[in-house]
Amino acid sequence: MRSVRKCFLVFLLAVLIGLPVWSLEAAPPDQTGPSLADLHKAKGQNCKSCHGESMKVDDNESGVNAQCASCHGSLADLGAKSKHDINAHKSHLGQINCTACHHGHVASKPYCLNCHTFDMKIPGSTAKTGIERKIVRKDPTRDRADVVVIGAGAAGFTAAITAHDAGANVILLEKMPITGGNSMLSAGGMNAANTQFQAKKNIKDSTDLMFTDTMKGGKNINNPELVRILAEKSAESVEWLTSLGADLSDVGRFGGASVNRIHRPTGGSVIGAHLIGVLRKNAEDRKIDIRVNSKVVELLRDADGKVTGVQVEGKHRGLYVIEAKAVVIAAGGFSANAQMVEAFKPEFAGMTTSNQPGAQGEGMKLGEAAGGQLIDMKEIQIHPTVAAGSRILITEAVRGNGAILINREGKRFVNELTTRDAASAAILKQTGKSAFLVFDDSIRKSLKQIDGYFHLDLVKEGATVEELAKAMGVPADALKASVDAYNAAFDAKNDAEFKRPDLPRAIRTPKFYAIEVKPGIHYTMGGLKIDTLTRVINKDGAPVPHLYAAGEVTGGVHGANRLGGNSISETITFGRIAGATAAKQATGK
Ligand code: FUM
Repeated sequence: MRSVRKCFLVFLLAVLIGLPVWSLEAAPPDQTGPSLADLHKAKGQNCKSCHGESMKVDDNESGVNAQCASCHGSLADLGAKSKHDINAHKSHLGQINCTACHHGHVASKPYCLNCHTFDMKIPGSTAKTGIERKIVRKDPTRDRADVVVIGAGAAGFTAAITAHDAGANVILLEKMPITGGNSMLSAGGMNAANTQFQAKKNIKDSTDLMFTDTMKGGKNINNPELVRILAEKSAESVEWLTSLGADLSDVGRFGGASVNRIHRPTGGSVIGAHLIGVLRKNAEDRKIDIRVNSKVVELLRDADGKVTGVQVEGKHRGLYVIEAKAVVIAAGGFSANAQMVEAFKPEFAGMTTSNQPGAQGEGMKLGEAAGGQLIDMKEIQIHPTVAAGSRILITEAVRGNGAILINREGKRFVNELTTRDAASAAILKQTGKSAFLVFDDSIRKSLKQIDGYFHLDLVKEGATVEELAKAMGVPADALKASVDAYNAAFDAKNDAEFKRPDLPRAIRTPKFYAIEVKPGIHYTMGGLKIDTLTRVINKDGAPVPHLYAAGEVTGGVHGANRLGGNSISETITFGRIAGATAAKQATGK
């Protein structure tokens, strides 16, 4: 009790002397279990054990996290102690804050549950509701930067690094407790034409072919000027990432591409966590000011409409202003905003999503409120293969490397390498609006990331095709006939029935595997209209002064349907342009 009173006195003192602190507005109303603070208190700890002498909590929560690590060890230490393959501390999210999951005064919640469905109890997670924290203190201070970047996914990191390297002082803001955004979840890879890695594999590609494929995939409503840049700068963007330490040496095939063009790490490993790890390290090495838990609530403008900075709501600091000479919005799309998806596409109501929960479309709203024009908002992509009953994306690379799609009747029904809209539409016509991805051990071994689906318990298997059919609950004779017909097409190098353009592997090597999949909201093609310099364009066709945008928050690059692999490509190419243009605007160099 004494330590609670002490906490209160320190809190009061902090308010009086003007330290940025939370305002605890209400007592825990319906607490059914102890909070982490209660658990610590029961072990004889007091507030300072977690908050240190200063009792100050910044938005990055660095002090509190250092205190966690000083008692419990680092994330890596905790991960190394676990014997299990799946352990939250062996995180693919990088060096994330302990407080992303373990909250002090409100119910703790594993961050993983935003995407996964693990039954995972963590200390302090039993409380139904916790103390309502409402930020009431407005921080009067104003920070300054040459360039503010909103959103720390691939586009945001790229813009921040490029602006920094061009001589600008940069602040990178992320509203979520971790960096990475949707790019972190990206499974597929990065499309690029005429790269050194294609040349090593004798793949004949051209920027014209990438341009044509992308326009065709987007049903020709894409902005051709932006698509031309996407294609022409793609190889340079691969080189840039490689120079930062990324591995993009494996090249595979995705739907809608005329040749193997999607670049990913050796062995076909998942790209997202690797890419974000490389970008984050480069940003940290450059000492770029990265602030998580920092949501931009408004773009500030002067009387002429010029963007002059942002108003930020920090989780602990409250509302404050950052003055900036240029602002880049790289805050992603709105696939995880079910209301917005339904408003633009009522037929997708209630569908699952492959996106992280931060994909709410707030960057688009910020840009629009500052005068920007939104285009193509109805163009929403569903990805054909999200694992049934989950938010886990089964990468298109599984089909690219040879898997086929089978319905509940045990039959193939579509060219598996058609565009996403066509494959999704075909699956939605099948019994149960779902299908199975069927593959064998040779396909499993060809793509490292498939192992992850086994860890997540998503795969059914059989020593023979008939045994697999039993595990899937489909007629064994029909599945056997479908696999035999596919193998015959592979031998003849001609898929006469479904016209699949690439048949990389037969399905003959035991064991045999299947994953049940359903379409899910994956990508929003619409967004802020930009020009080739990434300037945000208003309804009159003029740039909103000093405002730039890159990545999924923009519209125009992908038209009505994005090709797999073009998202990472867009984030890097247009993130680099945005960073360079914003830095030039800000520094005059
Ligand atoms: O299927 C995938 O791996 C998705 C890739 C993408 O959306 O670019």
